[in-house]
Amino acid sequence: MKILILNGPNLNLLGKREPQIYGAAALEEIMAETARRGRELGVEVEWFQSNDEGALVTRIGESAGRYDGLVFNPAAYTHTSVALRDALLAAGVPCVEVHLSNLHAREAFRHRSLTAGACVGQICGFGAASYWLGLEGLVDYLRQRKAGRPA
Ligand code: DQA
Repeated sequence: MKILILNGPNLNLLGKREPQIYGAAALEEIMAETARRGRELGVEVEWFQSNDEGALVTRIGESAGRYDGLVFNPAAYTHTSVALRDALLAAGVPCVEVHLSNLHAREAFRHRSLTAGACVGQICGFGAASYWLGLEGLVDYLRQRKAGRPA
């Protein structure tokens, strides 16, 4: 099983960016730990980060047939991007949305996600652990689906 982890804008700055909200770990460290946990689950993990909405749309579009599932932190595009929502729906690759911070404990504009409705589910508020909790949830979902069991 092959999973792609997608990261949106400014997540390349993790560790330096508002550490009181997003924590002290750099994206590379979080991705390495998520990949390690993926190996424990018996899945292969690749990752990608871009500040560019179009590049994320393209990667989602290319993911059909190449990846079994996506873990996606769309960052600020969560709250604005019809294009990313449409890309997820068009690709049809099961996706779990993740956020480091608890969106619902923050500003009102962060309470709405345009992308979560195109996902299997959403995990937020657990810091870096949101990524591996999301990965675990996704792998469980994909295995249940393969076994023909309802989610
Ligand atoms: C974020 C939450 C978003 O609202 C914000 O724009 C981000 C990071 C998170 O992981 O908590 O860039 O997606």
